[in-house]
Parts: sequence; structure tokens; C-alpha cells
Amino acid sequence: MKNIFLSLLLFFSCTFIRSVIHAQEVPLYKNSSVDVEKRVEDLLSRMTLEEKIDMIGGYEGFYILPNERLGIPKIKMSDGPLGVRNYGEATAFPASIGIAASWNVELMKEVGVAAGKEARSKGVHIMLAPAVNIYRAPMCGRNFEYLGEDPYLAGRMAAAYVNGVQSQGVVATVKHFAANNQEYERYTVSSDLDERTLQEIYLPAFKTAIVEGGAGALMTAYNLVNGVHCSQNEHLIRDMLKGQWKFDGFVMSDWVSAWDAVAAANAGLDLEMPSGAFMNRKHLIPAVKEGKVKESTIDDKVRRMLRVMFRMGFFDRPQENTSLPLYNPDSRLVALKAAREGMVLLKNKDNLLPLDRSKVSSIAVIGPNAHPAVTGGGGSSRVNPFRSVSTWEGMIQVAGNGVRVYYHKGLRTDFTSLFENSKFTSAPTRKNGLLGEYYPNMNLEGTPAFTRTDEHIHFNWNEGPAKDFPKTKYSVRWTGTIHADKEGLYDFVVRGDDGFRLYVDNQPIINQWKDQAATAETAQLQLKANTDHELKLEYYQNEGDATISFGWGTVERQVEKGAIDLAAKADAAVVCVGFNPMTETEGADRSFALAPEEETLVNEVAKTNPHTIVALTAGGNVSMINWIDNVAALLHSWYPGQEAGTAIAEIIFGDVNPSGKLPASFEKKWEDNACYNSYYDHDNDKHVAYTEGIFVGYRHFDKTGIEPMLPFGYGLSYTTFEYKNLMLSAGKIRK
Ligand code: BGC
Repeated sequence: MKNIFLSLLLFFSCTFIRSVIHAQEVPLYKNSSVDVEKRVEDLLSRMTLEEKIDMIGGYEGFYILPNERLGIPKIKMSDGPLGVRNYGEATAFPASIGIAASWNVELMKEVGVAAGKEARSKGVHIMLAPAVNIYRAPMCGRNFEYLGEDPYLAGRMAAAYVNGVQSQGVVATVKHFAANNQEYERYTVSSDLDERTLQEIYLPAFKTAIVEGGAGALMTAYNLVNGVHCSQNEHLIRDMLKGQWKFDGFVMSDWVSAWDAVAAANAGLDLEMPSGAFMNRKHLIPAVKEGKVKESTIDDKVRRMLRVMFRMGFFDRPQENTSLPLYNPDSRLVALKAAREGMVLLKNKDNLLPLDRSKVSSIAVIGPNAHPAVTGGGGSSRVNPFRSVSTWEGMIQVAGNGVRVYYHKGLRTDFTSLFENSKFTSAPTRKNGLLGEYYPNMNLEGTPAFTRTDEHIHFNWNEGPAKDFPKTKYSVRWTGTIHADKEGLYDFVVRGDDGFRLYVDNQPIINQWKDQAATAETAQLQLKANTDHELKLEYYQNEGDATISFGWGTVERQVEKGAIDLAAKADAAVVCVGFNPMTETEGADRSFALAPEEETLVNEVAKTNPHTIVALTAGGNVSMINWIDNVAALLHSWYPGQEAGTAIAEIIFGDVNPSGKLPASFEKKWEDNACYNSYYDHDNDKHVAYTEGIFVGYRHFDKTGIEPMLPFGYGLSYTTFEYKNLMLSAGKIRK
């Protein structure tokens, strides 16, 4: 009896000790010395199907859902590729196409390292960059974010950026997969192309960034490829990316571009962003039960995300590195270096440049882009820098004491008359104006507190929009129609404090949905004669000043006589023209030509001053035919980032020798481009057939013998080269 009692005591105490030890045992996946794949499988095996599904739909706009029970961290993302776009100010690096123009992969890596460090200082785990789509036509609104027309150059640059960012413990996301080569109708257009063209032109940069660069994530594109949405394109994701290239990271959708939970899940989309609108419990649990989606398919998605998270150390250290400053002077130097190396000198008649400080006593800096600095194009890549240097400021700094630098903005732009005179019709009431629905919350939620027709949208609401309505934290939606009498290019201008977004015919054309000081955004649309268009403007006010203005029509912009007078008196004139975040932006294509008044400004300045230097801001080529012969020098600065003005001035004065070379062929006229007949959806069937095949860019100019304005690889410097005793001998060609 005593023995039985002792044995029982022993048994219970062992069980108790075992369970205490078990309770304290650190799960395998939490042990950082364990192999990544083992950690992944261990954690995955502890997750319920519901938890897994919750994780594959994005969270709070730019996050992956955390899991408190299991200690899965909240993963934070930020846009790139021109710097860390979200969560406050950051270094605005030059646009990617400008860095590609340096042809310097080491420099691109440095930019990646600097961006990675800034990401860590903000606790960002995933950078939504690099963007690697091929430059096919100069109008594409996002060319500035991309890396030019050559798949090899784009691939090398992309891989270098990925290496740089990931070396800092931040995941790089290659985007937008694939054939996203225009912004016009980007949500609905199908890029139709044959397999060879896809493989030789449009996929290699992605492949290099993935296979050689080792990018941890990839983002699918908005457009369709050969009739199938990229977010559910089996050929692209399953066969190519995960099949042939053996990509073991994860695939996310572009923001709001999943369409079908089952199709996306089975094609290989791992994470739907910015939320699980389709890839959620409601759709996927029945799909798993009915066998339409295998549970192992869901596992694979979570496995990929966890793998990258473990690999990058996200479970083992805080992502926010507080020892790194938010404003990093080293990044500023990298931005300056990249701006210097990327600019391309395209014309330098009679060696006007570099300007000799001892011979030039006054310079007129003129034009809409002369001040403030135009650091980048518009859209999700737009970084708000701590500080920036405009061309005017840069010229003052760099010119030195003996040179007087004058400034004139050159063009008068009048938005106020547009805000006060725009005409609208409010659909239900047929009254003049827009129907406004006023919501007592910031998200246009629920039923409006009141509605009314607003004849014009030009409000300063410091006392609130109406009596008995909140003065802060509200939102308004205006709807109605506009009527275009004549065919032409129309401006749509919104200025607001805080967030606003504008849709025309249900397409978003302006999106500034964030807290901000009064900001103006412009988009342009080509409208046909005698057509009606649906309009929706949304606005929210958080706290502080509350203003919202909107107008559409043709904006009156005039060349100011004062600018021409100033140019006439100066020894040299620098005319800063080109596009800006309103006119060259994600979500819309831009024109090939500069705005007509900018061309006039260039020509009028050039008429009065033979030493006219044009500093151009654009994501690619612009039509030069109307003005290039009249000016002495042309410097293409792309979008040079926050150090723009310093780099431009240093090149103008010869402190820096220009060394950039074009990463895209520059055509004389649009008709000379390979895609002239295959860029726009001419028959309106939402299909763009890439009929030029692989003969895009320089391949086309070589094949057809058409003379470009300036060929791929072109770029002048201040160096004189002399070739002597050149000889050709028959010998082996070295590989
Ligand atoms: C863009 C992406 C961007 C995402 C998040 C989308 O509209 O196409 O490039 O990463 O928004 O801002």
C-alpha cells in the first residue's frame, strides 16, 4: 500500500514538473538559432485556418496583420522608390530613371542602403520598391519611377537597389508585375503580348531583381496581361515567378487590384493589399471547405510571408532602429551624388557650358520649375523631404559672390478664376452645381447629416461647413456631371486641407487622401467634344484649417513680360521647364510636348538671350522640335530629388562634369516611336496589343533606320576625347 502511494506521488509530481517545463518551453519558432524553414513550419502548425486567412489580407492600409496570440509582429510597409514615402519627412532621392542614367550600379546600391536605413529609422519592414517596368513610350505617367527602356540595365539597377535595401534588414518589393507600361486606363487595360516579347523585354528586369537580387517580395500590376488580371495571372505568378524562377518570397497585389478570391488564391497571390477585400474568411473558408482552394494553398501563402519575416529577422529584433536619425545627413549626400551623376547634358552649343564665373556677372533663373524644387513626379512615390534645394537656390549657393542670380517664375497661372467659374450639374436635382453629402465623420460613413447643392467648390471652412455641423473631423462627397463643349485637354485642379480625391467617370485622377496643409493637385484629361462626364470629389477635414477648392477647364497661363526683360539683361539665362507632380504622375499619362506656354517661354527667352540653357524636368523624353534649335544648351535633370538645385548649378558652372547617359531613346516625334500605332487602345476595347514585339526603344530605331532625336546612351560631358592610332586586327572575339 505504501509503495503504491509512493509510486502515485512520483507519477503526479513528474507530470506536474513536465507540464511546468512544457509551459515554460520556448516554442521552436521563437528560437533565433533554429533554421528558418523549421521555424516557419513550427509557427504555421500552430495557426488556425482563420488566423492564416486573416494574415493574407492587408491591414490598416500599409500593414500585415499582427497575431498577438502567437507573437507575429505587425509588419509595416512604405512606398518607394524615390525614398521612404510614408510616415513623415524623408530624403527625396532622384527619380529612379535619373539614377539609371548614371549607369552606376554601385550608386544605385548606395541609394538602396540609404533608403533602407531611413526605413529602419521609421520601423518600416517592407519597402514597396524598386519599380522596374520598361519605358515604352514617353507619355507613361510613371516612367520616372522606372529604369529606362533596356531590360539589362533595368535588371542590374533593380538588383543593386534590392541588395542595398535588404542589406539593412528591410524587404524590397519588385513592382509592378508585369507589362504595366502605361497609366492611361491602368485599372482596366490589358497588355497583350506574345511570349517572346514578354520574356525578352518585359520580364527580365523582374527576373534579375528576384533571382540575382534576391528580393523578398513582389507586387502585381493593376493592368491585365493577355486578358487576365495580374493579381490572378497563373502564367505570370505560378508558372514564371514561382515555377521557373523558383521565387520563394511572397506576392502582394497592388492596392485594390484583386478581383476574385479563388482565382487569386490559386494563381499564387499571397497577400491582398491594402485589405482582404476578397482574400478573407467570408470567401476563403467556404472555398476551402468546397475544395475550390486547398488548405495547403493557404499554407503556402503564409509560409512565404513567414519565411521572409524570419529570414529578415523580424521576429528577433525590433525593426525600428532608434540609433538611426530620422533626418540623416549621409542620405542627403547620397541624394546629391545621385542627382549629379544622373543628369544628362543633351546639348552644349559652342561649349557654352560650363559657365566661366570670371566672365559671367549675372544669370537669370526663370520658369515654373526654378523654384520651389521639383523633386519627384506625382503619386505614391512622392516623398516629402525635410528640405530641398531649388535651381534658383542652388544657383545662388554655387555661383559665388561675383555672379548675381535673378529669379522670375516666368508664367502666371490663375486657378482662382477656375474655382470661381467652373460649371457643374448635380445629377438628381439637375441644378447647377454639385450635390454635396456632408458626413459627421472623416470616412464618408453612414448617412450624411445633410445634403445640399453647391454651385462652386471654393470653401474656407474655419467656422465649419454649416451651422450645427462639426467644425472638425468631417467629410464631404460631391457628385454631379460636367459637360465638355470642345475637344481638348482640360485641367482638373483640387486644392485642399486636409485630404481630397477626385474621380472622373469613376477613374481616380487625383488622390491626396491624407492630413496635409493646403495642397494643390492638377490632372489633365483629353475630353471629346460634346460629352458628359461623371464627377465625384471627396474631401475630409481632420483638424486645423479647412479649405477645399475645385475647378476644371483650361487654365490661363501666360508668359510674364518681366521674365523676358530679366533674361535680356543677364549674361545667361537658365530656363527651368518640364513636368511636375501634378502633370506627370501615377494614375494618368502625360503629354509628349511641354505645355504650350512653356515652349513659348523657352523661345521668348532664347530670342532675347543667346546664352539660354534649358534645365528640363521630366520622366523621359519630351517633344523638343519646337524649341531645341533656339537654345544653346539643354540639361535633362529628370526629377533630381531634394538636392536638385545644387547638382544643376554645379553642372552649369563645371564644378561637376556631367556624366549621365540616356537610359531611353529620345524620338524626334511621337510618330517615330515603336509603339506609335500600338500604345493607345485605339478601338476602345481595353486591349493594347504590343504589335512592335521586341522592337521597342533602340531596337526599333536600329531596325527601321529612323533617326532618333538623341539615341539611347547619349550624353555629353566637358571632357575632350582624342583617339589616336586606332587599329583593327583580325583576332578572336573575347567573350
Ligand atoms: C501604386 C503602388 C503603390 C501602392 C501603395 C498603388 O496605387 O500603384 O506602386 O505601392 O499604391 O501606395
